[in-house]
Amino acid sequence: MRRIMVMGNILFLLFVMSAFIQTYSLPKSIERGKEVYATFCMNCHMADGKGMENVYPPVAKSDYLKRPVKDLINNVLKGESGELKVNGVSYNAIMPAQDYLTDGQIADVLNYVNNSWGNKNLKAITPEQVKKMRP
Ligand code: HEC
Repeated sequence: MRRIMVMGNILFLLFVMSAFIQTYSLPKSIERGKEVYATFCMNCHMADGKGMENVYPPVAKSDYLKRPVKDLINNVLKGESGELKVNGVSYNAIMPAQDYLTDGQIADVLNYVNNSWGNKNLKAITPEQVKKMRP
């Protein structure tokens, strides 16, 4: 009897804990990121992610996306300027900092970019990672 009660308490505790521990859903983040991209990135990087020849680099199948996560987060937080090679092509334009976006929006848009137009990266970028990179 006592053992059953102990078991019951443990199960109850696990149940309560599971309500607090929510795993970050990559598919949902990608879905939200689509909106963020359409509003804040598409003007330059275009709907198909291919950018604009000699001006805006592509985010579709971009080799830049293979860089460490912190580089991707910094790209959005601080913007990018100076000469930059993407897929062997040089660009030299200015991407303004997008630091007005929330940590969640930045994680979402990067997860969307990382998983669209043939890009694939199943390792989700989380808002916590973005938060850590803010100055
Ligand atoms: C005003 C135009 C503009 C907007 C808006 C913009 N970018 Fe950029 N982006 C650029 C330019 C220009 C570069 C390259 C800068 C350079 O030449 O150094 C760049 C570079 C990048 C890169 C690295 C290179 C590559 O193509 O892979 C990524 C990733 C990126 N932008 C993602 C985003 C995301 C995500 C957003 C929206 C939150 C965004 N950009 C908004 C113009 C823009």
